[in-house]
Amino acid sequence: MVEEVVQAAGAERRTSTAATASAKPLRLDQISGENVERWELRIEEFARVLGGGIVPGSIVLVGGDPGIGKSTLLLQAALEFARDKTVLYVSGEESGQQIKMRAKRLLVKKDVDLSTVFPQQLYLLTETDLDAILVHAQQICPQLLIVDSIQTMSMNAFTSSAGSVTQVRECASQLREFAKASGIAVFLIGHVTKEGMIAGPRVLEHIVDTVLQLEGDRFQSYRVLRSMKNRFGPTSEVGVFEMREAGMVEVSNPSEAFLAERMENTPGSAVAVAMEGTRPLLIEIQGLTSTTNFGNPRRTSNGVDFNRLLLVIAVLTRRNHLKLYDQDVFANVVGGFSVDEPAADLAVATAIASSLLDKPVQPDMVLIGEVGLSGELRWAGQMASRLKEAAKMGFKKAIIPKRIRKIEKLPDGIIVIEARSLSDAVKSALG
Ligand SMILES: Nc1ncnc2c1ncn2[C@@H]1O[C@H](COP(=O)(O)OP(=O)(O)OP(=O)(O)O)[C@@H](O)[C@H]1O
Ligand SMILES: [Mg+2]
Repeated sequence: MVEEVVQAAGAERRTSTAATASAKPLRLDQISGENVERWELRIEEFARVLGGGIVPGSIVLVGGDPGIGKSTLLLQAALEFARDKTVLYVSGEESGQQIKMRAKRLLVKKDVDLSTVFPQQLYLLTETDLDAILVHAQQICPQLLIVDSIQTMSMNAFTSSAGSVTQVRECASQLREFAKASGIAVFLIGHVTKEGMIAGPRVLEHIVDTVLQLEGDRFQSYRVLRSMKNRFGPTSEVGVFEMREAGMVEVSNPSEAFLAERMENTPGSAVAVAMEGTRPLLIEIQGLTSTTNFGNPRRTSNGVDFNRLLLVIAVLTRRNHLKLYDQDVFANVVGGFSVDEPAADLAVATAIASSLLDKPVQPDMVLIGEVGLSGELRWAGQMASRLKEAAKMGFKKAIIPKRIRKIEKLPDGIIVIEARSLSDAVKSALG
């Protein structure tokens, strides 16, 4: 519960509502401009998540855990964008020197000779007073305004401290009105609470057009940029980056990166094809069983949905008659990635069975399918693109659920083994 002190309606807010009241109702055919214009962003993975580029007048919120690389990613975007457009980067968290140091680090590794010349159209401002920021923004007239972070901004009209519900909500609404009126694209950085929600009121997510979330394992260098909401594009796209000295480096072939350290022919490893939106990703799933010494057997999952792990273990025990009741079971997704798709069930189950039986899964095989409670395998969507990606990555065989309705045409170039049940699938995978 957060106490909110109600203010007498501020003069600024009145004027803005008066301005919108002067707008006239129009028929659809009277509205000009058909296609959303987008500004190109030369960080392809980022642009894809945004739906193809930056939409003028849009407001985007980028959330993520502390130290995950939000400021780095947005400064990189600012540096790229400032090559032909004007950018104002406002920081309420870091000093100008800190940002300059980071910019230097990001630019040094680039092939272009920017190491000596900073982009002329990138302006930095260290300020937390939103009214002052808007004045500067009106003077400089940038195409892109970046605010790091929304939780440090405050407006004088409200007495509560920066980061409070009122300040965050009002600052964000003010910025939205500014973006819509001026056509400037605004990017906000948002903190994330311990529970993984974007800090501040839930309305913050309604105020903005797009919500992006930067995720990743603290101990791993991969970062995944996900779109949680997008008024200008699909929400299913992800961008994959690797955190390096030179900043966030795009990983254009994540499957290759996730499979790089795989040891073939060792028990307890299986390859699944997960869909991230429309993009298939090959990931290695590892299973390990070890005899429980005392007490209850433990189940531990890292990157695999825990309830799905329990379900898979139960099915393996009952339908495949595997002795898992006196085994600790660990399941892990390599690379700090996480899958919550049921289509990864078959790979999880096979990795566990492979570890228990001490037999490796065939090295050139991928496994795709959901496991049902009767031990049956169930079809997974977008099978054709999954198989295509597997074939592209050099896999020769795939175990998939038996096709009941043959709607989707499956690609050539990979041998498809259809299995009706989990036990059939495990038998062929380990055979
Ligand atoms: N010289 C360096 N080489 C490699 N990685 C670095 C280097 N300096 C910083 N980093 C990485 O950059 C990360 C910090 O990134 P950044 O400041 O962009 O995060 P942030 O999400 O903005 O954090 P905050 O929430 O604190 O603002 C650090 O966790 C560190 O891993
Ligand atoms: Mg930061």
